[in-house]
Amino acid sequence: MRGRIDLGGSSYVQSMEEKTGDYKLNIRKAQRTNQENDGKASKLEAEYYFSALKKCEEIMAMNLTQREIHSLWAARRKACEDRIREISEELTPRKPAPPQMPTPQSASKPTPQSASKPAPQPEGKRVTDADNTEEGEFKTKNANPDVSAETIRSWYQRDLEHLRGFEDLVGMEELKRRLMDEAASIGWDRIDKDLQISPVQSYFLYGPPGTGKTTFINAFAKEMKEQGFQYIKLTGSQIHNSLVGVAEKTVTAAFDEAIDAAPCVIFIDEVEGVCANRSDSNTASHEKRLTNAFLEARNKMKNCGKRIIFFGATNHPSDVDPAMLDSVKLLYLPLPDEKARESYFQFVFRNIPPEDGFSFGEMAAQTDNCSYRELDMLVNAVKSSIKQQMIRDYKVLDEAGEVDQEKTDEAAHEALSSGQVKLSRELYEMKLREYPPKDKSGVFESLKAFDNSLAGMG
Ligand SMILES: Nc1ncnc2c1ncn2[C@@H]1O[C@H](COP(=O)(O)OP(=O)(O)OP(=O)(O)O)[C@@H](O)[C@H]1O
Ligand SMILES: [Mg+2]
Repeated sequence: MRGRIDLGGSSYVQSMEEKTGDYKLNIRKAQRTNQENDGKASKLEAEYYFSALKKCEEIMAMNLTQREIHSLWAARRKACEDRIREISEELTPRKPAPPQMPTPQSASKPTPQSASKPAPQPEGKRVTDADNTEEGEFKTKNANPDVSAETIRSWYQRDLEHLRGFEDLVGMEELKRRLMDEAASIGWDRIDKDLQISPVQSYFLYGPPGTGKTTFINAFAKEMKEQGFQYIKLTGSQIHNSLVGVAEKTVTAAFDEAIDAAPCVIFIDEVEGVCANRSDSNTASHEKRLTNAFLEARNKMKNCGKRIIFFGATNHPSDVDPAMLDSVKLLYLPLPDEKARESYFQFVFRNIPPEDGFSFGEMAAQTDNCSYRELDMLVNAVKSSIKQQMIRDYKVLDEAGEVDQEKTDEAAHEALSSGQVKLSRELYEMKLREYPPKDKSGVFESLKAFDNSLAGMG
């Protein structure tokens, strides 16, 4: 079912127009800021891109079942993300490259398993091991006339500092434990060889939108970086939108790059964009060729004998070719349950306690059927109102009677740090009425159909 499910008729159109207008305005402001700053990156420019990114997310959330619109805005969100990352790289002084590949023993946060795990050895076929470190000039042998070295370079996620780690992710404990356990089973090269086990691990995360698939994999890659794993990330919709023929070469280059970069995590988000179901009558012939190229390249990777962890993620699992599902571990990410939502509120409002007579538990009880993304939107709206209120409450005027921004900021900070600012039930419930959870019946129908098809396959 591909019908629009969230907002009806004119309110949908009006809301889309408003949000699109806001998005464009923020992009224009970001570009103007960059021009006025002689082409140099700035925090303000990043803030405009961040606001634009938020609009993309809101529009994506409004179009959960409108695949083309959703993909378009996902690509726009990705472009904003990329620019924010570039800005943060430009503004952050670079760290010196590590002298050698860190071993689990030298990692600052060893996993319980790492103590008994063999140290990873440098893998074979890199151009040179030093080339693709943070400082080194990027080199790759996988560039071709259609897929430039620059494009391949952009797949490497190097600055993971700004990404959430496992400790910043609420809930998902079972999944975290499972993945870290399985990661610890990588690196036993001699045993793998003796038992003829492929060290390549493959996972397929699916579930409703906004449940943390992308966030979880980013966080996992961040954990694995400490064990010397590189992180390569691509988006299926971007590859899908490239020219016919180029998309196939891009997919092949991506898996070849993962082989050369091993040990590495490779993540293809919105994987249905590169691995469309070939038995679906709506799948065009060029999409079927892309699926073939994808499966061929992935098989090559699977048999390469190197330490690679592959992730695909989607909220349209029925659109993915069944051949992809044969050799991956399927992981379902549900909407957060009440307990997870309570932990979430505790985490995000850790410095804004609820007023007397109100609790995180009550907030959780009122947000059934909300995804993490929807909770984020609600929380952002609540925090914005609190901010406005704090600016009014802790206003400090200068001699001319104007607001002294620095002193006001300081006073508000003091109030927040000393627990004086409270979250009121009234504000929370008002924002909840403005940001109710979207209708997800269409999404659940499609996920149920997928689960049924899996049962049929089994
Ligand atoms: N476990 C979590 N704890 C706290 N916040 C989370 C968690 N998971 C996700 N989030 C928040 O929810 C937002 C949406 O998550 P994310 O984009 O990873 O979802 P997704 O499942 O990949 O969605 P989509 O299917 O639309 O791609 C993130 O920006 C993140 O801030
Ligand atoms: Mg995602």
